[in-house]
Amino acid sequence: MFSMQPIGYVKSPFKNSQEIPKGLGVKHEAEGILEIKEELVAGLTDIEGFSHLFVLWAFDRSEGFQLLGTPPIDNRPHGVFATRSPRRPNPIGLTVVELLRRDGARLHVRGVDMLDGTPVLDIKPYLSSVSSEKLRRGWLAQAEARGGMNKLRGTAVAILLLGTLVCAALATAQTQKPAPVAPPNRMARMALIAPNNSRMTGVNTMRLINTAQAEYKHAHGKYAPWDELC
Ligand SMILES: C[S@@+](CC[C@H](N)C(=O)[O-])C[C@H]1O[C@@H](n2cnc3c(N)ncnc32)[C@H](O)[C@@H]1O
Repeated sequence: MFSMQPIGYVKSPFKNSQEIPKGLGVKHEAEGILEIKEELVAGLTDIEGFSHLFVLWAFDRSEGFQLLGTPPIDNRPHGVFATRSPRRPNPIGLTVVELLRRDGARLHVRGVDMLDGTPVLDIKPYLSSVSSEKLRRGWLAQAEARGGMNKLRGTAVAILLLGTLVCAALATAQTQKPAPVAPPNRMARMALIAPNNSRMTGVNTMRLINTAQAEYKHAHGKYAPWDELC
């Protein structure tokens, strides 16, 4: 028979489970401290040389276990030993943390996903020898792929919706836009301000415009913008 005692406790920013980031591909960046018992400090000798550590700890706030369960990141059930569920026959947690610095019995680390006060059972240097080509991620890879597809589908639907909205807005703007003033109307205005208020034919109007343009160019060295003539 064996028995275990904590070698220390986690100082974590998380006071309850809801505060801990969850979900597919979530990155644990929270910083915390592993406070190791004074009488065990000699066991930390030379630990500073390692960038990352395995931390084994106890799910001290979970009750009982469930052999088959549906993780929050999937919609299919999986065996407890194929998941990282807190509800396991031996409630042991495993977290890889980055060692930021050692301050005596305190290890400052990044990447905690444990609740504040979680008992630490063991610490080991992290050494991964499994090449990425050999690594298989089981149901998690499939859930991630499905998640990715759902995200893609979501993005496509969002783009379609946005496109529809933009088209609808443009169509509405078109119908509400006042009709552009057609040159004949301007000519009609020209006709109204013509000398003697005489009624003018289209040809006469064009002659008047040409004359006005010629005068404008003579005075300003360039042709007048249309609006200035009207
Ligand atoms: C999915 S588990 C993964 C933990 C660890 N990385 C592992 O793989 O064993 C992480 C969750 O465990 C829960 N948890 C953290 N500390 C706990 C504790 N001391 N007791 C019970 N549950 C805890 C939180 O809900 C947290 O979101």
